[in-house]
Amino acid sequence: MKSQPTEQQIRDLLSKVPYPGFSRDIISFGVVRGITIDSEISIQLVVATNDTAVATQLRERVLQAMTSLGSDVPVKVQVDVQAPVQNASQGPVPIPGVRQIIAVASGKGGVGKSTVSVNLAVALAAQGLKVGLCDCDLYGPSVALMCGVSERPYADEEGRIIPPERHGIKIMSMGLLLDGDSPALLRGPMVTRYTQQFLRNVLWGDLDVLLLDLPPGTGDIQLTIVQTIPLAGAVIVTTPQEVALIDARKAASMFQKTNVPILGILENMACFIAPDGSIHEIFGSGGGEKEAVRLGVPFLGSLPLDPAIRIASDSGTPLVVSSPQSPTSEHFTKVATSLASLG
Ligand SMILES: Nc1ncnc2c1ncn2[C@@H]1O[C@H](COP(=O)(O)OP(=O)(O)O)[C@@H](O)[C@H]1O
Ligand SMILES: [Mg+2]
Repeated sequence: MKSQPTEQQIRDLLSKVPYPGFSRDIISFGVVRGITIDSEISIQLVVATNDTAVATQLRERVLQAMTSLGSDVPVKVQVDVQAPVQNASQGPVPIPGVRQIIAVASGKGGVGKSTVSVNLAVALAAQGLKVGLCDCDLYGPSVALMCGVSERPYADEEGRIIPPERHGIKIMSMGLLLDGDSPALLRGPMVTRYTQQFLRNVLWGDLDVLLLDLPPGTGDIQLTIVQTIPLAGAVIVTTPQEVALIDARKAASMFQKTNVPILGILENMACFIAPDGSIHEIFGSGGGEKEAVRLGVPFLGSLPLDPAIRIASDSGTPLVVSSPQSPTSEHFTKVATSLASLG
């Protein structure tokens, strides 16, 4: 029988391990991010340093300390090294070569952010701009699928990722790094790190516009972005229904508090136009426009609930590419034009 220590025992032990070069211990330093006890004991550490020797020392110290438990359960120590987080006073740091960065956000999931991001990106590219699209929705990436890209991106000798190009835009998405349907199993600090990597460790090259397809809500990813990336602005996507609008308001408030201009509200799935031409307002009507007025930001119009949009996305060819003349594509093009005129 293997004797299993408790998490508390391990924490007590680690609270006596000093951080290399400091008298303070690694628990109070906040370095220990997770302890899992199973057939093996797994300890996750996250350190913010540019000194790689610290990771090695930490791992050795933790393993050494664990031997004093006298347990025969194998111990695995995982050290995640992150570049030190800039302090807030440094403010957002531009991405070299990228002229302007625009976020596509929403409060609620499933309102069509990715659909809008992908179609706006290709519409901007069709206007002759150099465009990148970064899928910041690490847990629910859909940009790769919607653009029909599946190949794993290559890295250069320095480990920087070369984003694949499709439909005239450069693309980065978690969907390109995962195998098939595997979910992204990421803990809090890794989410921040991946977000930074996607933005700073990808060879975006010279871009007129980098669009960021954000996850829904106002979580870690969005906060990392608003605090570290200079956004030219954000487009908020919502459906006309109240539950979506309430959440859209929260997203808007996050941008306002961090001085990111809201470039407008785009209402999606506003109505369904039946084959007989009758209009059905499934999620209500007018909500997006009212919200834009309330916030004093531009209303970017309403897109209908149109099966052609979904079919195009599912097939990997966005509607703006597959049917550029359709009224919905023309709407995307109009919104893209208004965004392009910003910079
Ligand atoms: N206007 C629309 N008409 C029909 N289907 C849509 C429309 N907008 C989005 N969809 C579909 O709805 C689903 C959710 O959209 P998505 O863009 O992934 O939302 P989000 O990124 O906000 O979670 C997708 O399958 C997409 O193809
Ligand atoms: Mg999405």
